[in-house]
Amino acid sequence: MTDNVLLFASSKGGVGKTTVALGLSRALAKLGQRVLLADFDFSSPCLDLLCGMEDHVLCTAADLAKEICTPGDALLRPYDELELYLLPASQEDCMAELPEAEQITRLACAVEQAAEQIGAEYVLLDTGAGVSKGLHAAAKTARSAVIVAGHTPASIRAAGMTGQRMLSHGITETYLVINPYDVKSCAAKKNTRHSMLEIIDGAGVPLLGVVPYDYALVLAQEGHGSGELSAAAFQNIANRLRGQAVPLFSGLPKIRKQKRMLFQ
Ligand SMILES: Nc1ncnc2c1ncn2[C@@H]1O[C@H](COP(=O)(O)OP(=O)(O)OP(=O)(O)O)[C@@H](O)[C@H]1O
Ligand SMILES: [Mg+2]
Repeated sequence: MTDNVLLFASSKGGVGKTTVALGLSRALAKLGQRVLLADFDFSSPCLDLLCGMEDHVLCTAADLAKEICTPGDALLRPYDELELYLLPASQEDCMAELPEAEQITRLACAVEQAAEQIGAEYVLLDTGAGVSKGLHAAAKTARSAVIVAGHTPASIRAAGMTGQRMLSHGITETYLVINPYDVKSCAAKKNTRHSMLEIIDGAGVPLLGVVPYDYALVLAQEGHGSGELSAAAFQNIANRLRGQAVPLFSGLPKIRKQKRMLFQ
């Protein structure tokens, strides 16, 4: 199985883990990579919905973990033009009869089987906020963690603490993604905060990318159109993961102009 296994985590809920995991999966697939995206948020799974595949889910990660289906039965391919495969999660707790430690081991095994099946070059595991069964299972397979945080100092500090916590899960390689970066709100705070770079440095998690607030992306998640601003940001992040040195705001001219508001 590939070494490129990333889990998505945050201590706070609703910061955009699922959005970033899906955006980055699509960006990697656009670069010609075979990508497995697994929904490991077992308390509020939603990747099937965001991919418009909710009516196509027949089997889930839990069914695969319980060996009542094959990877081929569970995997969905939401976008014909992309080698991006989704392993959906069940909306019910259908592993409750097993001890939690066994659930975790089996779920980690299920994702490995799914990755083998498609010859995945990247595996992205979306987990819920905080410490959960999904996080424990994801950490058994993942080599790296992407920590998603808002641009406020409090959110970035929480990301630093999440990064520390990853060590106890055996994950030493962590990256920070700031999402959503709202230019207007940063402008309003001009001169009232420490430099965001100082705060990011203080968090001790290397910055992988900044995703702007993108209303088009919200509409896309509701099934109307596709995100624009954020697509360039996800592409930048994908290229950085592939080893390229990409300037922080490449392809994002509006943000480039205003970056002094964030990095004053
Ligand atoms: N860059 C962005 N621009 C605009 N809206 C965004 C952006 N990123 C996320 N959102 C919105 O924020 C909300 C929360 O995003 P998301 O579900 O990805 O967060 P999460 O961290 O996965 O949440 P949870 O902790 O519940 O799993 C969604 O309504 C999503 O549309
Ligand atoms: Mg989520």
